[in-house]
Amino acid sequence: MAKITYIETGGAEHHVDVPNGLSVMDGAKRFTIPGIEGDCGGACACATCHVYVEAGWFERLPPQEELEHEMLDFAFDVRPNSRLSCQIKVDESVDGLVVRIPPRQY
Ligand code: FES
Repeated sequence: MAKITYIETGGAEHHVDVPNGLSVMDGAKRFTIPGIEGDCGGACACATCHVYVEAGWFERLPPQEELEHEMLDFAFDVRPNSRLSCQIKVDESVDGLVVRIPPRQY
């Protein structure tokens, strides 16, 4: 279980406890947090689960795999701290993670 904070573009914050084994995208869907679509269900094939990882956390996450890196080319307004949230697995190591949701996914 990890406490994860999702922050919408408008500033609304969602603090939720996401069970181990889910992804950060799964957590957003489970708690109906708006702005993370996850159209492909986590197969790293849609880039609609794009998030910005808060400063201090980006470097602590496991690095992107090549497929995620390539799929990010299809995301809107990609920044140096962009990740696809379906590729961030939840366990105790991400307890306290903060991600910001882009204004749109397409
Ligand atoms: S849910 Fe499709 S790439 Fe993440």
